[in-house]
Amino acid sequence: MIPNLSVNFAGIKLKNPVLTASGTFGYGYELADLIPLEKLGGIVTKTITLEPRAGNLQPRIAEVASGMLNTIGLQNIGVKAFVEEPLEKLNKIGVPVVVSVAGAAVSEYVETVKILGRQNGISAIELNLSCPNLKKKIICHDLLLMQDVIRGVKKVSKVPVIAKLSPLVTDISELALTAQNAGADGVTLANTYPAMAIDIRTFKPKLSTVKGGMSGACVKPMSVRCVYDAYQSVKIPIIGCGGIMTGEDAVEFILAGATVVSVGSSSLVSPGNLIKVIDEIESILRGKNIKSIREVIGSVNTV
Ligand SMILES: Cc1cc2nc3c(=O)[nH]c(=O)nc-3n(C[C@H](O)[C@H](O)[C@H](O)COP(=O)(O)O)c2cc1C
Repeated sequence: MIPNLSVNFAGIKLKNPVLTASGTFGYGYELADLIPLEKLGGIVTKTITLEPRAGNLQPRIAEVASGMLNTIGLQNIGVKAFVEEPLEKLNKIGVPVVVSVAGAAVSEYVETVKILGRQNGISAIELNLSCPNLKKKIICHDLLLMQDVIRGVKKVSKVPVIAKLSPLVTDISELALTAQNAGADGVTLANTYPAMAIDIRTFKPKLSTVKGGMSGACVKPMSVRCVYDAYQSVKIPIIGCGGIMTGEDAVEFILAGATVVSVGSSSLVSPGNLIKVIDEIESILRGKNIKSIREVIGSVNTV
């Protein structure tokens, strides 16, 4: 028996539940020579902003035990250039495309999504709500601002809107519920964890911005907990993200309540890991005689 890996996420049909995580796979088409992109459940682009951004100064990446820190600073070519070339190339792959969007103010998110809305071939928008606002505070740390961003984008978007949240909050369920009540069609849990590393030879921080976001295997249990907590309180589907290196990791997130997972740092180690994760999910289900991945969603046995 070949298990059925297909899922429906907020009305989007995916042939399997494995997506790329934003910012770890370029615009999404560049690795076509390295891996069969058409096998992916879907592609989430790096975050796109209204205007091009050069990103932060180097060094922007540092390795830590079982993970990494980054401070890329949303380097991207801006939405107008994105719709001209990368989007066209992405559409040729034939898998659902989720465009990640960020801005420093509501108007920037809304304008960006309006421009994207004139294009075909976008299955969903993922709002990166972990980026700084005009006062350098994380957008989703201000619940009212986060609501305004989601509501504003929902008014102009023709496709489902997914809210990607920062895990650095006291109560992730409250945040997810607020996103749901503002109209989000799904949530992604979670983005990176604020962190810092110091080079003890030079006494200098390992990142140009001193602090950055931590990702990779070391964050998985914290992100699984975010998914589990949010699953208890929201009805909208969840994309589980954080430290997924193997099919076992992906199944863990799905047991906690994720419908779909996204794989980030692991594909920086080797892009082929994305395909391995899909194959491993299939063999785990086959080994347990489970017919469909949908049976697994949220079915962790806590009694
Ligand atoms: C180098 C790098 C760049 C990233 N860029 C973005 C980005 O542009 N937008 C975003 O929402 N998340 C970004 N992330 C966060 C990832 O999408 C993901 O949420 C996080 O890395 C946790 O997953 P992982 O442990 O599988 O990497 C980035 C992560 C890394 C490592």
